[in-house]
Amino acid sequence: MSTKPFVTLGIESSCDETGIGLYSSDQGLIAHQLFSQVEMHAEYGGVVPELASRDHIQRTIPLIKAVLSEAKLQLSDVSGIAYTAGPGLAGALLVGSSVARSLAWSLNIPALAVHHMEGHLLAPLLEETQPQFPFVALLVSGGHTMLVDVKGIGDYQILGESLDDAVGEAFDKTAKILGLGYPGGPALATLAEQGDDTQFKFPRPMTDRPGLDFSFSGLKTFARNTFAKHPEQKADIAKAFEVAATQTLMIKCRRALEKTKYSTLVVAGGVSANQSLRQVLNKMGKKLDAEVFYPRQEFCTDNGAMIALAGHLRLTKGQVSVGNEIIVKPRWSLEELEAV
Ligand code: KG4
Ligand code: ZN
Repeated sequence: MSTKPFVTLGIESSCDETGIGLYSSDQGLIAHQLFSQVEMHAEYGGVVPELASRDHIQRTIPLIKAVLSEAKLQLSDVSGIAYTAGPGLAGALLVGSSVARSLAWSLNIPALAVHHMEGHLLAPLLEETQPQFPFVALLVSGGHTMLVDVKGIGDYQILGESLDDAVGEAFDKTAKILGLGYPGGPALATLAEQGDDTQFKFPRPMTDRPGLDFSFSGLKTFARNTFAKHPEQKADIAKAFEVAATQTLMIKCRRALEKTKYSTLVVAGGVSANQSLRQVLNKMGKKLDAEVFYPRQEFCTDNGAMIALAGHLRLTKGQVSVGNEIIVKPRWSLEELEAV
């Protein structure tokens, strides 16, 4: 007789998507679903935190039911619950956290607070070919830009990060300047495909000095000034911005690989969906003889599968969030995590 698998239910609600995933110790990812609030926030040109929280309240439980039914499982088959406790919007985080902790309490199973960026960082482990530790991780999302020395699960040292705007935020703000609406990243990338990269040259911020920190707010200002002078050249501006942003990320990744002497790079977070970034990094990887790993497209942006996986890897090693208080951490450093 086989023993019952450990099944982790993952709940993501840190920003504007409700994501639910189910990860099993014998089958891996068995089901996942996502509800994106993008349409609701688009009207306002960005995420409205209070509306996000209210929407998570409506979506979370129906989505859990849908994922369980997709996997043909009952609530009683769930062995542990992982939920995003931060970083993110406090009200939004509270929804997923409250549901997770209450459900775990009622089922008498363990619950675990997951760090959203660890979820992104480990998302490539949902794929068949997986990166081996140690590796350098480039995390590029709407809220964060980081280079991390990853020696193992939970063993993270931040090598560099953005001093101002995250790169996803810079994509979004530049898109807004060009009148592309919200969320701007994917729209800007699409427009850039028609752009001519010889028209404008944007700076590569902070690449002329040593170190691995980033600064992207100047690129958006550069885009605003260029657009004011050349309002008819939107696609060329989008292209120049994308080239500058991706080249800057590549230069810092190369530096991080050289510094750590690692030969594996993991790229994750919303902006890792960007095809130009992937091309630039793959080319660099070839030159350095380094392997580059990404999550599949749908797991680059926020999702419940990555939270289920990150939580699973900890819950199955006995890590649990104890107590009956529901605590969220809107600000939370990756370096505070416990190693597994
Ligand atoms: O990881 P994510 O879903 O949410 C956060 O944790 O922030 O990342 C969202 C960010 C947004 O800024 C969005 O514009 C950007 O990722 N993004 C992209 C692309 N797809 C999403 N940026 C550039 N090119 C894309 N294809
Ligand atoms: Zn994210």
